[in-house]
Amino acid sequence: MIDFENFQEAEAHDYYELIRMLYPQFVSEEKLKLINKGSSVVFVGGGRTLSLNLEKGLDKEQRRRRIKTFILKDLNYPGKIPSAFGILTGVRPVKLVLELLETMSLSDLKDYLKKNYSIEDKMIDFLLSIGQKERAYFSTVDPFGYSVYLHIPFCPSRCAYCSYPMIKSSNRESLDSYVETLLLELDTYKDLKVPPTSIYIGGGTPTSIGEKYLRRILSKVQKIFHSQCEFTVEAGRPDTLNDSIFSALKDYGVNRISINPQTMHDKTLKILNRQHSVTDFLQAYNLGKKYDFNINVDLILGLPQENRQDILDSLNQVVALDPDNITIHTLSLKNGSQLFQQGEYFNTSFIVSEVIQEVYTILKSLDYAPYYMYRQKRTLGNGFNAGYSKPKKESIYNMLMMDEGQSILGFGMSSSTKFYDPKTNRIEKILQYKNLKDYLNHWNDKNAKKSQLREDFKW
Ligand SMILES: C[S@@+](CC[C@H](N)C(=O)[O-])C[C@H]1O[C@@H](n2cnc3c(N)ncnc32)[C@H](O)[C@@H]1O
Ligand code: SF4
Repeated sequence: MIDFENFQEAEAHDYYELIRMLYPQFVSEEKLKLINKGSSVVFVGGGRTLSLNLEKGLDKEQRRRRIKTFILKDLNYPGKIPSAFGILTGVRPVKLVLELLETMSLSDLKDYLKKNYSIEDKMIDFLLSIGQKERAYFSTVDPFGYSVYLHIPFCPSRCAYCSYPMIKSSNRESLDSYVETLLLELDTYKDLKVPPTSIYIGGGTPTSIGEKYLRRILSKVQKIFHSQCEFTVEAGRPDTLNDSIFSALKDYGVNRISINPQTMHDKTLKILNRQHSVTDFLQAYNLGKKYDFNINVDLILGLPQENRQDILDSLNQVVALDPDNITIHTLSLKNGSQLFQQGEYFNTSFIVSEVIQEVYTILKSLDYAPYYMYRQKRTLGNGFNAGYSKPKKESIYNMLMMDEGQSILGFGMSSSTKFYDPKTNRIEKILQYKNLKDYLNHWNDKNAKKSQLREDFKW
């Protein structure tokens, strides 16, 4: 438990996030108290009291960084989990890099990130390489344009690590109402004159809803957006894929898919309740290749009972297939997931940071470069998620969405819509309802807000 005395809420939250990253024991079992005394901050916990005397004349931002740097470097409680990101706690570190690149040279930026955030050198280089790549891509797309996201929250079964709001695809009644509502929602945008930069249908597992529903959705998407752009469908679960699904995707212009083993070990897949085997993945992958899709493959580092060699094994088997994109996730212990409820896993001493580095080195040697990345809360070893790509095969959607380079029009339950004004950098977000009942009954409330913002942004 972490207590804050005399801090404003936002400031306390900032320190809380950093302490939780470095010392998860203070969130779950032990007690730590921070007392703000103005010119000093006192830390009471772990059987001792430490005091940080703050230099005079610090502004608000400098003061926060000073306190966070003290937490990072001087608290030193046992069991500290290292952080390559220093005191940076945000989800989108590359966005910060992109903003700073507007005003600083590359070498000044390196110094700045090191001095102000204590980010490790290797991580700085990693972030900068992604930042430069995204910057180059963003300069080729219209910042006043938009991309489209459609959410399909159906899956064949719930995976043990996952907490996304999902509905079983065997629930035909819910599926039917969902598709009808989604089509209505899409119809409210039929007056759009300009086609999008990219389209992404994600989930959940969109391919789990079967060919008939998929065709209805894809045909509506084509009718409204007339797309010849990058068009991705999350085809994640190999157990949902076959010729008729791939033909449907192909008929409506889908050119990029994701097929995800997560691991190349059957024993782990069983623990995860994935309900497919490594052989199923290989068959689906080879079939997808015949249809000439750009293919992304997701892996997760830190899965239960997997060691370093298991992870490198999975990676080697995946790179042997030569996919265009590989996304490396680090297991994040999500509230509400089965793995999170198995408490002992929360205390794992698995140190993912070294394997992440090895994975990066292997991928780099095979001409895969990182092109977007993000962090999540409660991630093993303070790891992160990164998309790697063969040259010129990067997904523009992933970059635009992650680092907010364009407006995103979202449709469906749990979807997020973001309006972005490149002139002022203003961003406004609207989240669609996260449960089925609310979405089916009230989707139009959110849609009305979307329309209002659309006018506001002169869209
Ligand atoms: C939104 S999910 C959809 C993927 C698709 N339904 C599938 O299962 O293959 C996208 C990816 O997020 C990753 N993911 C989901 N939950 C995660 C967790 N708790 N920790 C790390 N990665 C996770 C998985 O790699 C997954 O493929
Ligand atoms: S990982 Fe994919 S298939 Fe599994 S529950 Fe989550 S969204 Fe569904």
